Amino acid sequence: MKDVRETKDAPRLTRGRLFGVTAALGSTLGLGLGKPSAAFAGPEAAASADAPGASAIEAFYGEYQAGILTAQQRHTYFVALDLTAGKRADVIALMKSWTDAAARMTAGLPVDPVAGAYDATKTIEDSGEALGLSPSHLTITIGFGAGLFVKDGADRYGLAKRRPKAFVDLPRFNGDQMIETKTGGDLSVQACADDPQVAFHAVRQLVRLAADAATVRWVQAGFRSGDPTKETPRNLMGFRDGTQTVSDAHRYVWVGSDGPRWMQGGSYLVARRIRIAIEHWDRMNVGFQEQTFGRQKQSGAPIGMAHESDALPLQALDKDGNPVIAENAHVRLGNVSTNNGAQILRRGYSYNDGASLVAERWPPWRQAMEYDAGLLFVCYQRDPATGFIPMFEQMSKIDMLNQFATHTGGGLFAIPAGAARGEYLGQHLFEA
Ligand code: HEM
Repeated sequence: MKDVRETKDAPRLTRGRLFGVTAALGSTLGLGLGKPSAAFAGPEAAASADAPGASAIEAFYGEYQAGILTAQQRHTYFVALDLTAGKRADVIALMKSWTDAAARMTAGLPVDPVAGAYDATKTIEDSGEALGLSPSHLTITIGFGAGLFVKDGADRYGLAKRRPKAFVDLPRFNGDQMIETKTGGDLSVQACADDPQVAFHAVRQLVRLAADAATVRWVQAGFRSGDPTKETPRNLMGFRDGTQTVSDAHRYVWVGSDGPRWMQGGSYLVARRIRIAIEHWDRMNVGFQEQTFGRQKQSGAPIGMAHESDALPLQALDKDGNPVIAENAHVRLGNVSTNNGAQILRRGYSYNDGASLVAERWPPWRQAMEYDAGLLFVCYQRDPATGFIPMFEQMSKIDMLNQFATHTGGGLFAIPAGAARGEYLGQHLFEA
């Protein structure tokens, strides 16, 4: 897979180093040795483009929210929250504080400007576990669930009329085993970073700031190993995952003039927590596994082809006249040619949540303690009605992968456009 990340994260800026040099700087300034460079100007300096480690910083403000087209980081922490705020002004206050906090944390700064100036008599609000760590390409992507607009029939914030037409409810799909406490939510936050502690810290701070306005509904951590600049990472089924990418973000990812102003430059996120019966998968021979996906396990090349980047030979037949890529192979069902020209931007992460008692869905219907591991599938699209919904509608019925994959949670969230400096996320929705 071609990695689109433009930045490399060396040398790394650490908050610890900054605090150290800040102390030294005080005495330097006392000696009247001149103005410090940005790198020596204290914690705030991390936001400066020429600070060391700035290359590990992903810009927060901009036309689009970061974390969508951003080259995929290694870790994610996803949270969905239920709003408890009584009125629209409280939601606006939350969005303002989230916007400021997200801008600071992605720049490698603690949420509260006072953090670092430790005073044993004060409560330091930022929990501090990211102090000393690199900004790690942290991105924080914030979304709105259907419950922001209408919940249990109530238009709590006077926004019902502003729910975009494209923001439909996801239907129930064949085989869905959605767990209520892992599904839905009025708000979503996806933090992605190359360091899991940085990603968790970001979510933890935003949840803390939301104490009076929202409560956690579900969370999911995920990871993606390997160096994507060298090769496409493998998922827990051992296959390269992320080979096929969206060909045109304007056409397939970003909402355009077809959406309300606050969504123009935004997107729709579908998250699905997909449990994979990896024990069952491990009992299959590699040939069968390859048929399931339609790609080869080692190289990632389509079956019958030599290279990972080769096009899928969807018309090719084998010597018996059967399709080389089976009719119900996963890649055929996901391919643009099978989906009326639709494409989605996938940005998923593996997850591993220990083990639990489970009854397998396929013969021999084994019941055992099995890994609760799989994929936090995340995809972005301009319109779910042409993207995920019809694509998964078909997959959920015939995909060979269904023998191993069970959808247990997730949601659909409207991701508003990015914020310009001085604005807060979603401003054009709340103040329209
Ligand atoms: C356990 C769940 C899943 C696993 C392990 C999985 C894995 C894979 C793998 C290994 C590939 C081939 C390599 C690549 O192009 O990245 C692939 C392709 C793809 N998958 Fe999935 N996937 C899962 C679920 C889904 C779901 C739910 C959707 C959407 C409804 C989806 C959509 C796609 C698409 C669009 C492609 C590219 C097809 C093409 O080559 O044109 N996948 N997936």
